[in-house]
Amino acid sequence: MKSYSLSMFRAGFLATILVSGLAQSTSLYTDPRDVSTKEYDFIVVGAGTAGNVIATRLSEDPTKSVLVIEAGIDDTGILPIHVPFLGFSNEGSSVDWNFTTVPQEELNNRTVPVPRGFVLGGSSSINLMVWNRGSRDLWDHYAKVAGDSGWSWNALEKYWDKASTYLDCTTVINYLSLTTHCSQISTLVPPTSNPALPPPPRNDPTLSNGNGPVLVTRANFPDELDDKVINASMLLQQENPDSRFKYTVDMNTGDSIGFGYYEESTGHGERSSSATAYLHPALNSKRRNLDVLIQTRAMRLLQSKNTASNSTISNGHSSVPHFNQVEVAQSVDGPRFKFSARNEIILSSGSIGTPQLLLLSGVGPKDELKELGIDVVADRPAVGKNLRDHPMLVTIYNVNSNQTLDDLMRNPALQEQLLEQWQNNRTGQFASTTSNVLGILPEDQLKGIEDPASGPHAPHLEMLFGDGFLGLFEPLPANGHFLTVLNAVVAPKSVGSLTLASVNGGTFTHPLINYNIYGDSFDIQAMLQAINDTETFLSTAPWTQDDFIISVTGRNSTSIGTEEEKIAFMRDNTITVFHPIGTARMGSKEEDVTDSRLLVRGLKGVRVVDASVFPTLPECHPQAVVYTLAERAADIIKEDHGML
Ligand SMILES: Cc1cc2nc3c(=O)[nH]c(=O)nc-3n(C[C@H](O)[C@H](O)[C@H](O)COP(=O)(O)OP(=O)(O)OC[C@H]3O[C@@H](n4cnc5c(N)ncnc54)[C@H](O)[C@@H]3O)c2cc1C
Ligand SMILES: *[C@@H]1O[C@H](CO)[C@@H](O)[C@H](O)[C@H]1NC(C)=O
Ligand SMILES: *[C@@H]1O[C@H](CO)[C@@H](O)[C@H](O)[C@H]1NC(C)=O
Ligand SMILES: *[C@@H]1O[C@H](CO)[C@@H](O)[C@H](O)[C@H]1NC(C)=O
Ligand SMILES: *[C@@H]1O[C@H](CO)[C@@H](O)[C@H](O)[C@H]1NC(C)=O
Ligand SMILES: *[C@@H]1O[C@H](CO)[C@@H](O)[C@H](O)[C@H]1NC(C)=O
Ligand SMILES: *[C@@H]1O[C@H](CO)[C@@H](O)[C@H](O)[C@H]1NC(C)=O
Ligand SMILES: *[C@@H]1O[C@H](CO)[C@@H](O)[C@H](O)[C@H]1NC(C)=O
Ligand SMILES: *[C@@H]1O[C@H](CO)[C@@H](O)[C@H](O)[C@H]1NC(C)=O
Repeated sequence: MKSYSLSMFRAGFLATILVSGLAQSTSLYTDPRDVSTKEYDFIVVGAGTAGNVIATRLSEDPTKSVLVIEAGIDDTGILPIHVPFLGFSNEGSSVDWNFTTVPQEELNNRTVPVPRGFVLGGSSSINLMVWNRGSRDLWDHYAKVAGDSGWSWNALEKYWDKASTYLDCTTVINYLSLTTHCSQISTLVPPTSNPALPPPPRNDPTLSNGNGPVLVTRANFPDELDDKVINASMLLQQENPDSRFKYTVDMNTGDSIGFGYYEESTGHGERSSSATAYLHPALNSKRRNLDVLIQTRAMRLLQSKNTASNSTISNGHSSVPHFNQVEVAQSVDGPRFKFSARNEIILSSGSIGTPQLLLLSGVGPKDELKELGIDVVADRPAVGKNLRDHPMLVTIYNVNSNQTLDDLMRNPALQEQLLEQWQNNRTGQFASTTSNVLGILPEDQLKGIEDPASGPHAPHLEMLFGDGFLGLFEPLPANGHFLTVLNAVVAPKSVGSLTLASVNGGTFTHPLINYNIYGDSFDIQAMLQAINDTETFLSTAPWTQDDFIISVTGRNSTSIGTEEEKIAFMRDNTITVFHPIGTARMGSKEEDVTDSRLLVRGLKGVRVVDASVFPTLPECHPQAVVYTLAERAADIIKEDHGML
């Protein structure tokens, strides 16, 4: 088994249930036999980030019935989900699907973890809560690929607003009845105190200010890296006005490039997920038309009228297979049950689950399906293809500081005290995530290379800073203090694929996930640049004063070494940021899996709403991009069924 630097949290806390957990809703089922109706207007497969938006929005219409089918468990009362500081400890736990890749050739055949939420809220319940909108260019690129201006940045503004609310400093202070003034909380106001620089431009705050259910804040608790990162970016900008390391107040204005505080999906000291923000409020308001069935996996989609491969249902134009049933099971050998959808089935099972279900249902590359003995319902060669993720290099430094999180990680009594405080009034260190600041920057060596990013306002690289040993999949050393830098290539060129390992076991058998990390040598060059950029950044005064950085762990130097040594280091220390996309890509071409209204081409009655439809990677942490997609998709579905 893997071990985790924060495993001490997991071991103790997962068993802990909040004493005052919400009463379970009567329409939350754990057994398919208890669900009284077998036919609904809509069936949503997956109560994840996107699925809960769809289910909640569709069930706003009391005349339409909605069933949500979720493989994982209820999130209610699971502390590591709700306590922001414990966000890291969900990977590899009972709320994770625990997928891994196949051996990655360019990583010396290492496999890398593919965590995915196995719980209400899906990955929004287990992610690290970074809240990035992406760039204007990203959405404009999607609009172009889809041939639908409805996906452009400007057209989506209202859906961004519909998904989230930014709680500014004053709101947070009032909620906590604190006497502190906002300007006294260094993490909530951008520092303007560097006299050598003009005050950083304040972008229009309305841009990141919506009025939707997901709560968003800046970091709730300061750490020693905040000032270092912001000062370093300001100093580099002072030296060079065209600095690639510029400071930014707001990463969510459409020009996402810059270093600064990021926003996170927390509010009032708790994680805000699609379960806490959308699904539970809908269930608690006793919508009679919304049922949720958990601990139950969709196994495949079926055509009830005619299960033969060439079923014909006249829709007035052409004859296409029409899936209107979902077959489910609670264990691999357990009984199967069927639920029918009068209007349509929405697949929101994520970038791994959605292509897996389509393939198991006979929708995919004909030859692959035949080889596995699956009847071909629709030959869709792009299903499972175009799998992409952001490669991420984890670099850990020994540092000269006693303020890092490491001592807390080694101190169960202090953790217990902070947890008590959190339970008492949602304040203190546990009310915040384990990192506050990041930087997003463009490549500077693209001469002659086709730019893989969406456009000039979209970045290529990211640096995220953690004040302690955030090894993710390695144990915390018994001694020492650490800085973790997570470098990601956010516009990589490598493309991989997902295929079925076998038809046996259905969705109980893990698919073969191949990200093909560094398969394109551009990504190695890009990561080399990221390492160089990190060395440049960390050689500024805020880091060198007081000899803060001692060395890269396991080395005698603050540098990783020669280019050869850097590439070897990359092969040993790269994972991904857990952002897979693209396996049911949207596009205007016949070969694309979904069209601009997210309907699966070649089928009737099936739509995909989740990260698998993105044709290219968002150059950012994608959850807010998924929420925005889902909010528009809900309106598209309502429009198509006369509900608007
Ligand atoms: C560890 C981790 C950290 C991350 N950190 C960040 C971050 O800090 N910021 C950010 O923006 N993004 C982050 N992400 C990525 C982000 O969370 C995802 O991109 C996003 O949540 C994906 O949403 P989705 O709706 O496509 O899929 P999901 O939210 O994963 O939802 C899919 C749902 O479908 C269910 N499902 C799958 N198959 C079946 C089946 N056969 N039957 C029934 N149900 C099924 C799953 O259990 C799940 O609930 C992180 C992801 C992970 C895993
Ligand atoms: C993932 O692994 C954890 C720890 O072994 C386990 O408790 C959990 O059930 C696994 N998840 C699934 C979906 O099997
Ligand atoms: C990785 O595995 C492949 C296939 O087994 C093999 O050809 C290759 O040599 C291996 N690479 C390394 C670095 O071990
Ligand atoms: C479906 O149609 C194809 C081509 O029209 C044909 O080759 C195939 O045999 C048909 N399959 C069934 C089950 O009728
Ligand atoms: C950290 O604590 C140790 C032991 O108390 C002390 O010797 C050392 O000077 C401290 N280091 C810093 C950077 O404060
Ligand atoms: C929250 O609770 C802690 C004790 O658990 C207390 O010290 C602190 O003052 C409280 N804060 C507020 C804002 O009530
Ligand atoms: C990284 O820095 C080294 C040494 O300064 C330089 O030789 C190399 O070209 C740089 N590589 C990239 C990708 O920037
Ligand atoms: C950051 O800059 C401010 C203003 O110049 C200064 O007061 C502070 O000490 C600096 N902090 C660090 C860590 O460099
Ligand atoms: C670091 O330097 C010391 C002393 O010079 C040496 O003994 C040790 O092997 C070096 N370690 C590494 C990882 O290079």
